[in-house]
Order: sequence, then C-alpha cells, then structure tokens
Amino acid sequence: MAGPIKNVLITGSNGLIGTTLSAAFSGKFNVSGLDVTPPAAMAASGTLPTTVADGSDYDAILPAFKGIDAVVHLAANAPVETPWPDVLKNNISATHNVYEAARQSGVRRLVFASSNHAVGLFEDDEPYKSIVAGNYGDLKPGEFKRVDNTVPVRPDSDYGISKVFGEATGRYYSERFGLEVACLRIGTVNRLNSPAQSVRHLATWLSHRDLAQLVERCLTEPLKFEIFYGVSANTWRFWDIGHAAEKIGYAPQDNAEDWRDRLES
Ligand SMILES: NC(=O)c1ccc[n+]([C@@H]2O[C@H](COP(=O)([O-])OP(=O)(O)OC[C@H]3O[C@@H](n4cnc5c(N)ncnc54)[C@H](O)[C@@H]3O)[C@@H](O)[C@H]2O)c1
Repeated sequence: MAGPIKNVLITGSNGLIGTTLSAAFSGKFNVSGLDVTPPAAMAASGTLPTTVADGSDYDAILPAFKGIDAVVHLAANAPVETPWPDVLKNNISATHNVYEAARQSGVRRLVFASSNHAVGLFEDDEPYKSIVAGNYGDLKPGEFKRVDNTVPVRPDSDYGISKVFGEATGRYYSERFGLEVACLRIGTVNRLNSPAQSVRHLATWLSHRDLAQLVERCLTEPLKFEIFYGVSANTWRFWDIGHAAEKIGYAPQDNAEDWRDRLES
C-alpha cells in the first residue's frame, strides 16, 4: 500500500485558488508550483518553488512533475467568457498535457479544478433559476432535488465544455492507467472571501477554508475517480455535498446565509 501523499505540485499556483491552497498547505505537504506567470510578478506568490512554463508546452512542463505524488491542476483561463482559442490552448490542450505528464512521471493522484459551469445549464431550469435570482417563493431549503455527481453534463459555455473535457480525461486516465482522480465542480471562490456581491453567491459560495479542506481531503482520503461539488454549507446551495461527505468526509464550516444582511446588490 502506498504511503501518504507528500510532494504536491499545484498548477496555476500564482492564481487566486493556487495562492490560497499553497498557504493552507504549508507545513502539511511539500508544495511546488507551476504557472505561466513568473512568481515575481505576483505579490502573493511568496517563496513557493515554481516552474514558469506554459501548460500547452508539454516538454516545458514535464520536469515539474518529477518526484511528485499528487497534482492539483488549477492552471486555466478562469473567466466563463473566455474565447474559444484561449479555452483550447489553456484549458483543453494544457489539461491534457498535465494528465499525460502526471502519467508519464508516475504521479499517483490528480485533483482537477472543474467548475459548476460543466453543469451550468441546470440554472436555466426551476427551481435553480429562481434560487440564483433570490426568488425563493414557497421553496424550502433542501426540499428539492439537488444537482449531484450523477447528472448528465450540461456545459453552459466553451469554458464549461473545457471542464467537461477535463473530467472525461480524468475518467480515462483513471480507468486506463490507474491515476487517482478527483474532479471538483467548484462554485464561487473570490478574493474577498465573501458571498456579499451577488444573490447567486448565497447559493454558490465556497469559502477559502472550506476549499482548502475539500482539496486536502482529496489528497488524503482513498479514492479512484470521483466528482465532487465545491460549495460551502450554504442554506440555499443546490449542488449536492452529501457525496463528498460520504466519500472523503468533507464537512464545510461556512454558510453564505450568514452574509445575507451584507448583500451589496
Ligand atoms: N475562482 C472560482 O470561483 C472558480 C470556480 C470554478 C472553477 N475554477 C477553476 O479553478 C482554477 C483556478 O481558478 P482561479 O480563480 O485561481 O483563477 P486565476 O485566474 O486566479 O488563476 C489561474 C492561474 O492559471 C495560470 N495559467 C493560465 N493559463 C496557463 C497556462 N497555459 N499554463 C500555466 N499556467 C496558466 C494563470 O497565470 C493563473 O495564475 C481554474 O481552473 C478555474 O477554472 C475557479
């Protein structure tokens, strides 16, 4: 039986989630980074040993995977409006390269930053449509079917398509090559670490500490291939977290409802 995961490579390490996780994992794992942006250009990057390389250049990223037990793959263009040429290069081609570099380097586990946008078109349907608009009517929290890990994918954008691609690639590398893969359909993580900017965020927010707990459990608990939703214990969440609770013991500590009276719009 393999020992605990020690050496963790975070791709997209200079971004919002990358810097949040590298700070949270300090002292827990030996963390290194990979990003197309040099760390010196980013105030929060600290002293993380970082390979500066473009994920779409396989030969350039491969050395960063040597001796790595697990990869947290975050590198991508994160805006949902990202145009197709950038999605293709930075989200699709780079993601395939990261899976292949992990396989070739004998990495045991990969945590893929998927997105709620892989299933975003559920928000065109009731009751989710009303919930994201804050029109709760007679709805009661939890008394409706939440979107779970078994629903068909319903991407809402080219960006969403790239996240479906990353999940499917994870399934392939898991079943064909034995790579352990957790795909996280992340909700809303922001720099303010607050859901106060939009009524939708009262349903979709993922706090920084819940994010860190979820990813840490994806690195420490047994799994083969899983899809989990990355959302805090928000009263009006409409994505399932029961599966993550059951499989890896995810127990979020935050609830966006505590911020409702500070909502800005
Ligand atoms: N923040 C959220 O609410 C949220 C929600 C769902 C999914 N996600 C996903 O989580 C991941 C991280 O998101 P974030 O909010 O930290 O985004 P971010 O934009 O802050 O960070 C992304 C990082 O990836 C790097 N990057 C982009 N293209 C690259 C490439 N070709 N090669 C190497 N590095 C590259 C960027 O330089 C940046 O540092 C992304 O995959 C995003 O799609 C984020």
